[in-house]
Amino acid sequence: MSSKKITPETIRKMKGLQCIAALTVYDYPMTRLLDEAGVPLLLVGDSLGMVMLGFPDTTHVTMDHMEHHVSAAARAHPNALLTADLPYHSYETPAQAVINAKRLINAGAEAVKAEGGRRIAPQIKAIVDSGIPFCGHLGMLPQSILEEGGYKIKGRNESERTDLLADAEAVESAGAFALILELVTPAVASEITTSRSIPTIGIGSGVECDGQILVTHDLLGTFPWFTPKFVKPRMLGSVLMREAVAGWLDSIQNTKLSCKKNG
Ligand code: KIV
Repeated sequence: MSSKKITPETIRKMKGLQCIAALTVYDYPMTRLLDEAGVPLLLVGDSLGMVMLGFPDTTHVTMDHMEHHVSAAARAHPNALLTADLPYHSYETPAQAVINAKRLINAGAEAVKAEGGRRIAPQIKAIVDSGIPFCGHLGMLPQSILEEGGYKIKGRNESERTDLLADAEAVESAGAFALILELVTPAVASEITTSRSIPTIGIGSGVECDGQILVTHDLLGTFPWFTPKFVKPRMLGSVLMREAVAGWLDSIQNTKLSCKKNG
């Protein structure tokens, strides 16, 4: 377990000193295990829509889903900073963003995250002004998958680069303590990292970010039907699970046969 409670300030101060490791969590055992492993930032990501609930993308995730999973994760009382995603269409206005951020905090989150830059700067500022720590998310934004038509790398041309730099500036100015960069070209991720004073945490955005985040199911190989190209699973969880279940099935079926034979 991390020895000391991690706060947004702890994460912010890690910039330039230590690579910030972050992973997603969705329930009590996962949160306890990853906290005991010493991961300082745990995110109840709306990726739970896919890897836990079987939806095709994150646009199906509701506040009720998020509260259910945040409260399960919070029961682990992690030392890690427990951050939670504001789901699709839950932060359309500053007032709505604050109401829903408070719902996640009441469920046990210690910080919230939402996708977007200049477009949601008033929402970020309102959340931070209400006393809730905020983590930004730029680059490929999964909640915009329907408009975007796919998971596309961002920062490949000059207009995307200048948009990303302006959005990162807006997120920091609005008061975020950290910024996730998803599928941003390594060159632009590096430029944002050096130009901002809050830490960047990359996912598929190269090694120059201040930290790295992954969906835990991708790291552990427990969602074998889709693994992003940039992830090298550290374990083939689905293979181990299938082998364990096949071994158990085999053992009880053989026992039943021998019961019958002996009976
Ligand atoms: O929902 C999620 O898991 C995320 C991470 C991929 C950053 O937002």
